[in-house]
Amino acid sequence: MDLLDRGEGPALLLLHGFPLDRRIWEAQGEPLAERFRVLAPDLPGFGRSAGLPLPGSLEEAAGSLLGLLDSLGVDRFAAAGHSMGGYLVFALYRAAPARITGMGLVATRAAADSPEARRAREETALRALREGPGFLAESMPARQTSEGAPPDLLDRLRPIMRGATGEGVAAWSRAMAARPDATPDLERISVPTVVVAGRRDKIVPAAESEAMGRAIPGARMVWCERSGHLPMMEEPDRVTEALRGLGA
Ligand code: MLT
Repeated sequence: MDLLDRGEGPALLLLHGFPLDRRIWEAQGEPLAERFRVLAPDLPGFGRSAGLPLPGSLEEAAGSLLGLLDSLGVDRFAAAGHSMGGYLVFALYRAAPARITGMGLVATRAAADSPEARRAREETALRALREGPGFLAESMPARQTSEGAPPDLLDRLRPIMRGATGEGVAAWSRAMAARPDATPDLERISVPTVVVAGRRDKIVPAAESEAMGRAIPGARMVWCERSGHLPMMEEPDRVTEALRGLGA
């Protein structure tokens, strides 16, 4: 897996969402590397890891990430995930709770997909296999950002989305569709956790983020009032500060 590996200190894994790559964390990488060893991979099927074997499930993907961390000499780590990356953080915590020192849950949700959402994912998967990820680069940037987001932000997102492979989009869509409900796990989370949410998120409603934050014992809630689904790009400094707290 191609990854950013920068800085020294406790490890902080940054996991991007769908259909994105590690460039969404561009603003956070350097400042966080002053305190952490920041590890930000391009997940298989995205960015520079586009050619790598794809996971059959989020559990399998979590297993590969744990193997990657082993190979880098990292035992314990804090994990921050954006949206699909947050689903992976839950999978990592299920697989290896003792290795996780803290959690950053950014614009993500604990609930599993509804039957309608699963059907929509399968349509996305089939279309991506037929024609590649280009259609997502047309529709998703506006959905992922707040109303009135600057055009240059949408322009940054399109090439990231086009850099995915059709097979990658399909595999991760199917993996997300099959993910279990993490809601029952929330009350058992016993590591410092920050929930970061965009008040203007069109994909994860504010009420759902609020409920997730309340369900995790001691979780800190950080609202990004001007952000949609990508607060790390719309209010980068606020997200950096929120994640910096994982090492406090
Ligand atoms: C993401 O940003 O990773 C996706 O919106 C997650 C999802 O489709 O559930």
